[in-house]
Amino acid sequence: MIETDVVIIGAGAAGLMCAATAGQRGRRVVLVDHSTKLAEKIRISGGGRCNFTNLNIHPDCYISNNPHFVKSALKQYTQHDFIAMLCKHGLTFHEKTLGQLFCDQNSDGIIRMLKDEVEQGDVIWRMGTSIISVAQAQAGGFVIETSQETWHCQSLVIASGGLSIPQIGATAFGYEVAKQFDLKIIPQAAALVPLTFQAEDLWGELAGVAIEDVVVSCQMQQFREAILFTHKGVSGPAILQISSYWQAGEMIEMDLIPELDLQNFLATANRDALLSTVLSDVLPKRFVQVFLQKSGEIRPLKQYSTKVLQSIEAQLHCWQVKPSGTVGYKKAEVTRGGVDTDELLSKTMMARKVPGLYFVGEVVDVTGWLGGYNFQWAWSSGYVAGLNV
Ligand code: FDA
Repeated sequence: MIETDVVIIGAGAAGLMCAATAGQRGRRVVLVDHSTKLAEKIRISGGGRCNFTNLNIHPDCYISNNPHFVKSALKQYTQHDFIAMLCKHGLTFHEKTLGQLFCDQNSDGIIRMLKDEVEQGDVIWRMGTSIISVAQAQAGGFVIETSQETWHCQSLVIASGGLSIPQIGATAFGYEVAKQFDLKIIPQAAALVPLTFQAEDLWGELAGVAIEDVVVSCQMQQFREAILFTHKGVSGPAILQISSYWQAGEMIEMDLIPELDLQNFLATANRDALLSTVLSDVLPKRFVQVFLQKSGEIRPLKQYSTKVLQSIEAQLHCWQVKPSGTVGYKKAEVTRGGVDTDELLSKTMMARKVPGLYFVGEVVDVTGWLGGYNFQWAWSSGYVAGLNV
């Protein structure tokens, strides 16, 4: 059995940040991951360009049973701290939209930077290494049996992420460790994920068509961004965002023409033109064709009664649909739920009833909005644990 101070399981975003912070404090750190490739989720993030944080990080942008839990970590390590790290490494970035920051050197730049930071802390890497067992040692601390060695450590950090994208190594390991130590778990679900519709609600012929400005609402929450029709239902940023709030069986509501007074708009239009042509000024042509065909023949504007036009307006402002589900963890960006925050100290991420055991990143019941919020949670929670292990 080899003695060390800290073992971190999971070399993803949170694990790397935790290892760098603890190692640079002079702690002897071992970083174990069963994958042979480093930080695959960072690599594929933001379409390979890594939306590494957001300028508008705020606790309200996180979903958790305890909405206050994120405050301490986000305050101790902010988006500006991470930006400062990028600058120190000569990396550059740009804001895309809604405060979302992307790295000009792509995900590879972020991974290289984190690897450098970890190496500055003299951390021992164990990639491609499986965990056989985790146990509390009788004399204190933890014994971690791996496919390579057995370690004894004072602090154990679980940074093994959530269930999304099992094809690149996501496992339920972190939840199993939590259960082993009798910590409560909030039930998990795929989040930031496309929604699927029942056959009768499907608009499969529109797959690939986007509507750029839609207000999607559910559970008193709303997002105004684009939606995208798919073969199975809908996707796009507004849908991914609302999927994190949506619960099975609930309706979602979409305003496809927010703020547009359609009757006023039609009053100024050419009344001899087909209604589809007129509406194509405010919505994608293919969508308008399919939408109008569903309620009958497409005619010139002047042939529609005010009542029918009002009903069309109502449908466009308030399209209600009950999704049949989501496309699941294979496509979900994150996992909602996880280790109950009531079990953890928000200042350090340590388990209240198991001194020395920490949970960081996505394995915890904290889910951020789309737009760099989840990585910021990984950096912040990894950092505060790294300061305390
Ligand atoms: P993460 O999943 O990064 O790391 C967990 C590590 O644990 C992995 O390396 C895994 O191999 C390892 N592991 C798992 N089980 C193990 C076991 N049994 N034994 C040993 N090791 C084990 N967020 C954002 O803010 N901006 C973005 O642009 C994106 N884009 C994005 C795109 C896609 C396609 C996905 C799937 C996700 C995103 N995200 C994102 C979300 C973001 O990637 C995610 O929130 C963080 O990676 C979570 O960091 P963690 O370190 O907690 O887990």
